[in-house]
Amino acid sequence: MKLQNKVVLVTGAASGYKNGGPSIGSEIAIKFASEGAKVVVVDILEKMGKRTVDTIRKKGGTAIFIKADVSNTDEVKDAIEITKKEFDKLHCLVNCAASYKGDIFKNIVETPEEDWNRILDVNLNGYFRFAKYAIPLILKSGGGTIVNISSSAAFKVLKNFSIYPVTKAAINSLTRTIAIDFSPEIRANTVCPGFVRIANSEGDRSSAEIEQWIGDISKSYPLKRVCTVEEIANVVLFLASDDSSYINGECIIVDGGRIISDTHEF
Ligand SMILES: NC(=O)c1ccc[n+]([C@@H]2O[C@H](COP(=O)([O-])OP(=O)(O)OC[C@H]3O[C@@H](n4cnc5c(N)ncnc54)[C@H](O)[C@@H]3O)[C@@H](O)[C@H]2O)c1
Repeated sequence: MKLQNKVVLVTGAASGYKNGGPSIGSEIAIKFASEGAKVVVVDILEKMGKRTVDTIRKKGGTAIFIKADVSNTDEVKDAIEITKKEFDKLHCLVNCAASYKGDIFKNIVETPEEDWNRILDVNLNGYFRFAKYAIPLILKSGGGTIVNISSSAAFKVLKNFSIYPVTKAAINSLTRTIAIDFSPEIRANTVCPGFVRIANSEGDRSSAEIEQWIGDISKSYPLKRVCTVEEIANVVLFLASDDSSYINGECIIVDGGRIISDTHEF
C-alpha cells in the first residue's frame, strides 16, 4: 500500500460521461483509494462525482464527495475546511479539473475575451486556488506532495488552439514555484499527458465512429495506440508517493514518445 493512511484531494475527479466512463481524475481517485488513501473527490458534477465515491466504497475504500467549482474561492476554501473537519489532515493534492467549454478552438484574435478569461480562471487559477488553500493544511499535516495534471500541449502547440496550451505551460511554471517555495516539506510535480482516451471527449459519436477516430489518432503515436487513464494514474501515484522521493519540480511527459518524434522523413 503506497498511500496507507494518507489523505488525498483530487479535483476534477467525477466519473466521466456516458454511464460513468473513465476520466483521468476519477481513475486517480480510485487508484489512490486502492493504495490505502482516504480520498476527497472534488468536482462541479455532483452525480458523477458521487459515482466515483460509490466505486471507491464498493471496493472497500474511504472517500467523500465535495461539490466545488475551482473558479470560486469560497467553494475552494470550504472544500479544504470540510477535508480538515472530516479527516483532520491533507497529505496530497492532485489538481486535475479543467474545462473545455466555450469556443476554445480558435487563435487569439478570434477567441472572445470572456472565453479566454473563463478558461484561464478554471484551468490555471483553479490549480493556483486549490494549491494556495491546501498548502497550509499539508504543511500542518507534516508535509506531502502536489501533482498537477498539465499536458504535452504545454510544449507543442496545435493550430487554432491557443488558450489551452497557455494554461498548461503556466501550470508547469506554477508547479516549479511551489516546489521551490515549499521544499523540503512539499514536493510538487506535473504530469503532461498526450492524448488520453476518456469518456468526455467521445461525446455523442457512435461506437464505430469512436473506434475510427481513436484509430486515426493512434497512427500518429509511436506506440500506435493512445494512452489509457490507468497509465496516467500510475505515474501520478508514483509522483504522489515516496517512490519518487527525490523528484521535485519536474514535468513528466506521458505521451508514448510522440512529442520527440517527427513526421518529417529523409
Ligand atoms: N484526455 C486527454 O487527452 C488529456 C490530455 C492531456 C491533459 N489532460 C488533462 O487531464 C485533466 C483531466 O481531464 P480529462 O481528460 O479526464 O477530462 P474530463 O472532462 O473527463 O475531466 C475534467 C473534470 O473537471 C471537472 N471540472 C470542469 N470544470 C470544473 C470546475 N470549474 N470546478 C470543478 N471541476 C471542474 C469536470 O466536471 C470533469 O469531471 C485535465 O487537466 C486535462 O487538461 C487530458
